[in-house]
Amino acid sequence: MSDAWDPAQYQRFAAERRQPFDDLRSMCMPVNGGRVVDLGCGTGELTAELHRGMAAAETIGVDRSEAMLTEAARFGEEVPGLRFELGDIGEWASSGIDLVFANASLHWVPGHETLLARLRFSLAPGGQLAFQVPAAFGHPSHFLAAAVAAEREFAPSPGETTADPAAAVLTPARYAELLYALGAVQQSARLQVYGHVLPSVESVVEWVRGSTLTPIRARLGEERFEAYLVRYRERLLAELGQQRPYFYAFSRILCWARFP
Ligand SMILES: C[S@@+](CC[C@H](N)C(=O)[O-])C[C@H]1O[C@@H](n2cnc3c(N)ncnc32)[C@H](O)[C@@H]1O
Repeated sequence: MSDAWDPAQYQRFAAERRQPFDDLRSMCMPVNGGRVVDLGCGTGELTAELHRGMAAAETIGVDRSEAMLTEAARFGEEVPGLRFELGDIGEWASSGIDLVFANASLHWVPGHETLLARLRFSLAPGGQLAFQVPAAFGHPSHFLAAAVAAEREFAPSPGETTADPAAAVLTPARYAELLYALGAVQQSARLQVYGHVLPSVESVVEWVRGSTLTPIRARLGEERFEAYLVRYRERLLAELGQQRPYFYAFSRILCWARFP
């Protein structure tokens, strides 16, 4: 399965997931007739908001999931100046972009030192780079996802690889250093905890199913993934106990920089 993203599952927590998007967008300055790229744009409605909010003449949403882009297509038809393209952030490069924006997507790509350099050199003079990545890898929802994926029944066979966001994501201080080294003249890098009140601990399973578990689903296939979910749910409940409601404290890193 090459495209395990499920737009409907991802959208189940749309209200909660948009909070970091709003915060990241508010860190950016309008480009007033300029060009914006939204890397890992997903289902496109937030890309359309970004396009309007930044007063861009042109905004391109890039994603490697055909399922996500199928959802996004209607916004491309409705909103002048907005379009969507299939592409891989791991290879994407351009030039003359006024804002490169990436909300909840760069963590799927390893090698952030080289990635940020590539994004920075895609910018026009005075361009901005803004990204948000999760930093919740110490939370049971995330460390148990990795622990169960390493259990004998679900472990990758030799040569099988899965994206490892926990290894890709750096610290806010390291991002600040990298942005400085790339020549940022203004920047902000911060850690923000988003507190989500979910109906129960089991809602966390539905949450991570729409995002964090996506590459595990792609690797395992449907049948083994269902077995994986049963085991994950069991270990999560053993770790957290049943709580109704459940306060899900989700840490994220938000970075913004402007370049000369
Ligand atoms: C968590 S969703 C975020 C979507 C959107 N930015 C938002 O804020 O709602 C992550 C998106 O990144 C995309 N993605 C993951 N790895 C990617 C890659 N290497 N290249 C392009 N898109 C990628 C996924 O297909 C998915 O649509």
